[in-house]
Amino acid sequence: MLCIAHRGARGDAPENTLQAIELALAQGAEAVEIDVRAHEGELIVFHDETVDRTTNAQGELTEFSFSLLRQLDAGNGQSIPLLAEVIELINRRVPLNIELKDDDSAQLSLQVIERFISRGWQYSDFIISSFFHPLLKTLKQQQPKLVIGALSAGVLVDYALFAKQLGAVSINLCSDSINQAIIDDAHARGLKVYIYTVNDVREFSQFHKMGADGLFTDFPLKFKQWLSTQAS
Ligand code: G3P
Ligand code: MG
Repeated sequence: MLCIAHRGARGDAPENTLQAIELALAQGAEAVEIDVRAHEGELIVFHDETVDRTTNAQGELTEFSFSLLRQLDAGNGQSIPLLAEVIELINRRVPLNIELKDDDSAQLSLQVIERFISRGWQYSDFIISSFFHPLLKTLKQQQPKLVIGALSAGVLVDYALFAKQLGAVSINLCSDSINQAIIDDAHARGLKVYIYTVNDVREFSQFHKMGADGLFTDFPLKFKQWLSTQAS
């Protein structure tokens, strides 16, 4: 089962920072997930619409200029990174799951990815995911080589059909609303099943038994240690 670090190793370092991503790799994560938002034509790695929870400031992201945002402390003296900085840091060691959090982040992400492709990166170094499925559909039409992960927070009426229609390689499901039927349906359609966000051993075990192909976790080390105790 694949260990996907959620927002980096956010259980042990400030989420969506370079420090959290480097730590995730040190802990053995086999992929890293981050969230991206467009801001003044740049792509910042950031989850919320406000800076309140994860920085030393308060307010809506839109109240901050790009340069002011970059001066904030995102924890442990880390600044809010750019997508390009994360890609440079990972440097193809593991695939990077880029979760699009707003409309404008889609085209900007594609531009950044294409720039790295021209420098020797592969499309398989990136997975684009989003809850905003029209963005994924457009991106896949523009660049069929993009690897798509279809996010969903529930069990839909046609199970994993939407992910197949999007040309996704995986369906990324919320641990709060999942059942065996959607996992089996995804597998029957040739899709991987990744589940977010899973942090306790009981759930590692539960989803392992249900056939999950990977888990997004805030604690990659804990996950890897648990996995090493399981019969392969
Ligand atoms: O991509 C999995 C997960 O990150 C989706 O939810 O809110 O943590 O970005 P969220
Ligand atoms: Mg996310």
